[in-house]
Amino acid sequence: MIDLSTKCVLVTGATGGIGKEIVTTCLSLGAKVIATGRNIEKLEEIKSNNNLLIIKCDLTNPEEVDHLLIHIDSLDGVVHCAGKIFPYPIKFIKEKHIHEVYSVNTETIITLTSQLFQRKLISKKASLIFMSSISVQHPYMGGSLYVSSKAAIEAFSRSVALEFATDGIRSNCIAPALVQTEIYEQTMNAYTEDQWDKIISQYPLGIGKPKDVANLAVFLLSDLSSWITGNIIPMDGGLLLNSNR
Ligand SMILES: NC(=O)c1ccc[n+]([C@@H]2O[C@H](COP(=O)([O-])OP(=O)(O)OC[C@H]3O[C@@H](n4cnc5c(N)ncnc54)[C@H](OP(=O)(O)O)[C@@H]3O)[C@@H](O)[C@H]2O)c1
Repeated sequence: MIDLSTKCVLVTGATGGIGKEIVTTCLSLGAKVIATGRNIEKLEEIKSNNNLLIIKCDLTNPEEVDHLLIHIDSLDGVVHCAGKIFPYPIKFIKEKHIHEVYSVNTETIITLTSQLFQRKLISKKASLIFMSSISVQHPYMGGSLYVSSKAAIEAFSRSVALEFATDGIRSNCIAPALVQTEIYEQTMNAYTEDQWDKIISQYPLGIGKPKDVANLAVFLLSDLSSWITGNIIPMDGGLLLNSNR
């Protein structure tokens, strides 16, 4: 049984499908959770709990990030779930599109992580989790900006693992394939019905659920995973089994 009762965990993107499930799973295992996102109504939908602190924060806004940081005392875990998908063909990419995707998926995550270390808010033996995507290994048409923004986060996570290993701090990425959330709906809308059916048929175990990802996240946050660091852990329902056919 995973026990997080001694842990305080920050979850970004807590209003999203995966983030919200991670928040509720952490709470059910006894963790104190600081949940953050932009949409306050969605944040308030998370069932109130004495161990839960909700803070509204647009991670691209430095003042709101400062406001978030002053509410943090010491963290044993961070799960970065904030993210944005933006399908766009390569030949039409302009600088503003790069900024739009990278600012949320890459820059805010790197600067928030840096700030947390600078202000000594990450405790020894903490576990950091970055949400990447299987698309780094298995790219999809139109996904170049999203995929490359996630590839940068994978490299960043491995660097965090190296720089902070002497404090017993671990850093890993979870790389899910399709999980049923709003991002999934947006991805689906970019395809015709036939194309989408073909995509779904490539998943031997079907499409993932937020709970699947949350289960791995709580394992990585717990002391049961204390020898795992610098890894990119795929969760793909068997998708990559089909990629070499
Ligand atoms: N679902 C999938 O199929 C899938 C697959 C692979 C990887 N992932 C990754 O897993 C993570 C979670 O995905 P999801 O499906 O749960 O996504 P989602 O439901 O679309 O949620 C995205 C989250 O990001 C937050 N966010 C976006 N821009 C932000 C900003 N500027 N500041 C603060 N928060 C911001 C949103 O907050 P607000 O709602 O408050 O705006 C929301 O909580 C993402 O990083 C995604 O790339 C998802």
